Amino acid sequence: MNKKIILLGSGELGKEFVIAAQRIGQTVIAVDSYENAPAMQVAHGFEVINMLDGAALDSIVAKHQPDFIVPEIEAIRTERFYDYEKQGITVVPSAKAANFTMNRKAIRDLAAKELGLRTANYRYATSADELQKAVAEVGMPCVVKPLMSSSGKGQSTIKTDEDISKAWNYAVEGSRGDVVEVIVEAFVNFHSEITLLTVTQNNDLPTLFCAPIGHRQERGDYQESWQPARISDAALFEAQDMAEKVTEALGGAGLFGVEFFLTDEGVYFSELSPRPHDTGMVTLANTQNFNEFELHLRAILSLPIAEITQEKNGASAVLLATENSANPTFSGIENIAGLPKTDFRLFGKPTSRPYRRMGVILTNDSLETPIEEITERAKEAAKLVTIHS
Ligand SMILES: Nc1ncnc2c1ncn2[C@@H]1O[C@H](COP(=O)(O)OP(=O)(O)OP(=O)(O)O)[C@@H](O)[C@H]1O
Ligand SMILES: [Mg+2]
Repeated sequence: MNKKIILLGSGELGKEFVIAAQRIGQTVIAVDSYENAPAMQVAHGFEVINMLDGAALDSIVAKHQPDFIVPEIEAIRTERFYDYEKQGITVVPSAKAANFTMNRKAIRDLAAKELGLRTANYRYATSADELQKAVAEVGMPCVVKPLMSSSGKGQSTIKTDEDISKAWNYAVEGSRGDVVEVIVEAFVNFHSEITLLTVTQNNDLPTLFCAPIGHRQERGDYQESWQPARISDAALFEAQDMAEKVTEALGGAGLFGVEFFLTDEGVYFSELSPRPHDTGMVTLANTQNFNEFELHLRAILSLPIAEITQEKNGASAVLLATENSANPTFSGIENIAGLPKTDFRLFGKPTSRPYRRMGVILTNDSLETPIEEITERAKEAAKLVTIHS
């Protein structure tokens, strides 16, 4: 079982996936738009292409003849994936999953209309005028997001009529791809949000769930995540049921990060990644028998996963750059290295820019330790590290 894997996207999540694959002797070609990306540093080979360019994708697939194509990001010409599947290549978790989730419209209509999952009330708009109408229909406050974007790009909240044209222009600027269209969602007044890592398996083996991960978002990116999140049994069952339905509809085997909002009125499906989730980096704190990258790999390779066990409570806190630099360096690492039950990853990104995620702090403790305490330790440790240019 030496399989050849093309990894599309070579960031920190891809890097941990490659390390997991290396540990069991698989071959990985890491792809991204720039050289020396984190996952390339640990892969067998690499390619530098624009992954939104279908012809460039075709040429590396033809060159490497992989068994698997594993997307690590959304911004890929995913329409090509259906062809690769026809050629006998396994697209992870499936061409449909990757293609549907690169556009918010496809996944939202599947979840809300086809599967009947509870989501925020929503409309679409292709112009400032349509946005005005859509806002009138869903009501204020509401959240505007480009259909094609991630990490909060182009996303804003409308509270008054004056915000509408600003929100449209901001969304157009933050849009990727050829479509300029937005989704307008009613603002969900959630008390917390979770990621439910969900693993689908081949050969009729059951879908498995990791303990729910809580997280806090700022500027569209997560700042801290913790596992397990505090959630009632009823809400957890509701979330698991929705996650099972939506992952089944998308098909294939692999790990998905399914995002939910928890409110007093129940659980809302938000969106999902058909691949390891950034908030799931908390599993690198040895919270589980297998981390999210190992689970993704095992599911892909059809290696049966008997169970996912929670071994420890854990938290992660991100290390963000503050400046543009072609030679970023860290100071204060020795301050955190000596802390008990604390670990860290530095991603090896060759350059930095403000708010770019450069590393992560990982803390853990026993299953009896309050999760807030462990999260606070991760946050405090992150403050001891500085990233310089
Ligand atoms: N309808 C909503 N009501 C309230 N908050 C929202 C709503 N939609 C999004 N948010 C907030 O914004 C965050 C980012 O939204 P979302 O996950 O849809 O965007 P994204 O750009 O795909 O982010 P990422 O790629 O980082 O997951 C959510 O985690 C949540 O905190
Ligand atoms: Mg999200």
